Amino acid sequence: MDYLSITGPSRLQGEVAISGAKNAALPLIAATLLSDQPCTIENIPQVADIRTLLKLFEKLGSKFIFEEHTLTIDNEAIDNTIATYDIVKTMRASILVLGPLLARFGRCEVSLPGGCAIGQRPIDLHLKALEQMGALIEIKNGYVVATAPEGLQGAQIIFDKVTVTGSENIIMAAALARGKSVLINVAKEPEVVQLCEILSAAGVSIEGIGTGELTIHGTDRTPLTFDPFAIIPDRIEAGTYLCAAAITYSSVTLTNVRPDHLDAVTAKLHEAGCRIESEGDSMVLYPAARLKAFEISTAEYPGFPTDMQAQFMALATQAEGVSIIEERLFENRFMHVSELQRLGASIHLKGNTATLNGPIQLLGADVMATDLRASSALVLAGLAASGVTNVHRIYHLDRGYEALHEKLKSLGAKIERLRE
Ligand code: EPZ
Repeated sequence: MDYLSITGPSRLQGEVAISGAKNAALPLIAATLLSDQPCTIENIPQVADIRTLLKLFEKLGSKFIFEEHTLTIDNEAIDNTIATYDIVKTMRASILVLGPLLARFGRCEVSLPGGCAIGQRPIDLHLKALEQMGALIEIKNGYVVATAPEGLQGAQIIFDKVTVTGSENIIMAAALARGKSVLINVAKEPEVVQLCEILSAAGVSIEGIGTGELTIHGTDRTPLTFDPFAIIPDRIEAGTYLCAAAITYSSVTLTNVRPDHLDAVTAKLHEAGCRIESEGDSMVLYPAARLKAFEISTAEYPGFPTDMQAQFMALATQAEGVSIIEERLFENRFMHVSELQRLGASIHLKGNTATLNGPIQLLGADVMATDLRASSALVLAGLAASGVTNVHRIYHLDRGYEALHEKLKSLGAKIERLRE
């Protein structure tokens, strides 16, 4: 198993190109199941979660070539609609094939994802919505067995909670359903918006894109044809590099970024004393004279993203005063707290709120990654800590950050990827 060895404190400088968004690429690859024609997608990040989804597609009978950042995929000959446990257990987002497989083929089986490191994460809202669209859903031997022999029927669906992959699954299902669906309380994340835009470009009539209410006119199982398109930049990867610059008091330029997707993140960086200048698809972070404490409460987009909570906790260790971080989306997304404490951070955790006192001179130590974003927080803390920080179990990082250690190295960090 590999680990990252970071010698800090670091000072960064230069330019880093942001990769395509993993969480936009996953649903858009799933959406190609709605087509029986070849489709080309560009700017796909080279990360493990994408390779896992493609492994699942291979099992379904899909034909594809994934080279550099371009995927050409042909789902004409799909002859299997079962997403097996061995793949779903390694990546919950495999659930994204449920809506499109059911919509196109009228049946599918998807292993039920279990709990995970950041919380219980049920899929009840995905299943309830599909039932409202006429699907018959049974749980058998750990699998969701879904059937809709006559195809899915458009329906009015009110999501009890805002769910990102839940919205994406039902949007894809509605695209091929019979008649009109009205989806209320839909997620507004940029990744959901891009999915709607691409479906719309493929001929599905969708009103309300970017709002919490969508009206989708389904094609009644007529497969879609996608023109080539490119995945949007990864706002969470971008936010992580902005934090890397902020925590090391460095100036860094990000390219291939969508500044408008990062408003909540840049607002907090301003509050912490940093200055950010954006122009077109690039952003420059100028460091604070002294980082100041801040308060964060995670929320659905356009609120502050839960996927940036851990990185800002690392940042708060270096900010002067008391920072308060409330996690409102996932009940257990604080696994990084005890690892940050190993580096010397002063964090008091009560319920879903962490209170930090800073600044603290962190001291390098061995720490363990627990989930994707928690891992990047440990890397950020390692950049600020003095001495050597070894971050173990970095397969979590590989799931969602393309070439993290090469990118940080090119910015001047002393970071090595080593074998245990
Ligand atoms: C997506 O997960 C992202 N994953 C996550 O990114 C991200 O943290 C999350 O949205 C929130 O922004 C992908 O896009 C692949 P949710 P998702 O359904 O869709 C509850 C990362 O690090 N809920 O929006 O699984 C749920 O338990 C990952 O890249 C139900 O109760 O999250 C949670 O409390 C991690 N029932 C809340 O809703 C359901 O049926 C939001 O979860 C579905 C969700």
